[in-house]
Amino acid sequence: MLVACWSAKGGSGTTVVAAALGHVLARSSPGGALLVDLGGDLPAALGLPEPAGPGISDWLAAGDDVPADALDRLTIQSTDRLGLLPRGRGALAHEGGDRLAAALAALSSVVVVDCGPPGDAVGTAVAAAAGLSLLVLRPCYLAVRRALAAPIRPSGVILVSEPRRSLGRKDVEEVLGVPVRAEVAWDPDVARCVDAGLLGRRVPRALERSLRRAA
Ligand SMILES: Nc1ncnc2c1ncn2[C@@H]1O[C@H](COP(=O)(O)OP(=O)(O)OP(=O)(O)O)[C@@H](O)[C@H]1O
Ligand SMILES: [Mg+2]
Repeated sequence: MLVACWSAKGGSGTTVVAAALGHVLARSSPGGALLVDLGGDLPAALGLPEPAGPGISDWLAAGDDVPADALDRLTIQSTDRLGLLPRGRGALAHEGGDRLAAALAALSSVVVVDCGPPGDAVGTAVAAAAGLSLLVLRPCYLAVRRALAAPIRPSGVILVSEPRRSLGRKDVEEVLGVPVRAEVAWDPDVARCVDAGLLGRRVPRALERSLRRAA
């Protein structure tokens, strides 16, 4: 199963949702789960040292010549059930998103991709090809406008809800025409956990509960 987490506006909480979803699925899937980092923030969010070796940028740059097990060889372990495919140091090639999506979909484990900054070509191609394409969205008018203008349609929304917003779940579903699969609260405990680099070891209970039925 290939799950893509993407956003239409920066700072929406995409990396946090991808990391937490990776944990949830790692626990519930017999073969564990793999997190794929196209943005470069996942190691820091998980509290891991910055990977020094090659990553997705190198895999993309190698073109069609990469060996079949190359993605496995690039994977580092975050926990015993959760692998991390690092982004690599160079810029991501503009081409190759479809090839990457196909290679990730062919892996035996559940794969969750943090598609990186909004509008990135590779991230957009992966989000378009994923079996489950999750738009991480704050219920903000400007973000919803961007989501409507995005070149791809999600299969569902993860709503990162803040108190006292005028837009809610129903508005988002009506405007975007796709279901909200989970509502995640904007929670200071989550922010603190990320800042302390603890997301790799424990996901705040409320965040985990909210995401259990998202994928
Ligand atoms: N549910 C949440 N509750 C509280 N803080 C959150 C939550 N989700 C994310 N944050 C905080 O918001 C900030 C942005 O989150 P994150 O990096 O996940 O967003 P992003 O969409 O991946 O951003 P970018 O567009 O830069 O990749 C971080 O400081 C993170 O700790
Ligand atoms: Mg991010």
